[in-house]
Amino acid sequence: MTQKAIEAKNIWKIYNQGKPNEVRALKGVDFSADEGQMLAIMGESGSGKTTLLNCISGIDNVTRGEIDIDGLDLVKMKDKRKTQYRAEKMGFVFQSFNLIPVLTAEENVELPLLINGIPAKESRMRAREILKEVGLGNRFNHKPSELSGGQRQRVTIARALVHKPKVIWADEPTGNLDSKTAEEVLKLLQNINKEHNTTIVMVTHSFEIAEYAEKIVKMDSGMVVR
Ligand SMILES: Nc1ncnc2c1ncn2[C@@H]1O[C@H](COP(=O)(O)OP(=O)(O)O)[C@@H](O)[C@H]1O
Ligand SMILES: [Mg+2]
Repeated sequence: MTQKAIEAKNIWKIYNQGKPNEVRALKGVDFSADEGQMLAIMGESGSGKTTLLNCISGIDNVTRGEIDIDGLDLVKMKDKRKTQYRAEKMGFVFQSFNLIPVLTAEENVELPLLINGIPAKESRMRAREILKEVGLGNRFNHKPSELSGGQRQRVTIARALVHKPKVIWADEPTGNLDSKTAEEVLKLLQNINKEHNTTIVMVTHSFEIAEYAEKIVKMDSGMVVR
């Protein structure tokens, strides 16, 4: 039997509710992902993909709806607990890399471990292991500015993965990469998905990229249409 990793029901997100600039970004979205599934959210720009990802990953609060993740009620969870839960169980990969520029690759990657209270020595060791796994065994001490776009995105993926999260959320993970590098990064995500059984939810507007997914959720104007 396949376990559900995430089950979200009737999710509404209304920005600036009641004001003249109100935006109904999500209008009753249902979303679910099985454990170990690689899933793509697709749709035009402005259709609500990022909002959905931010809401179901607990980065942002929903206006209304239910989110069950790993058997827990994310909507009812207190902010502090939610932050802790995210740090322990989730990894994030964004288009803009979000690496800390003054830190080296290994220092960027070990951060999630240090935040989770893992001793420095062990954190460093595990950061290096995971950097090797993403093909950056010879770039431990490089700062983001000393790496190519594809290498930077690999560091981001290593950082998202290092604490062995249950779910990796990726918002347009290849948006800034050329097509060859994008393919490498996707293959890497696919490997992680297979080898660690990590659930991966990625947002993309490219059909080529969506081909890597087992399930595609198509959005239009704040609703899931398919
Ligand atoms: N923080 C915000 N405040 C107000 N409106 C927002 C905010 N973020 C997104 N929106 C609006 O919500 C809609 C969905 O945006 P978004 O989820 O970013 O779409 P996508 O990722 O599919 O391009 C858009 O109309 C956008 O302008
Ligand atoms: Mg977006």
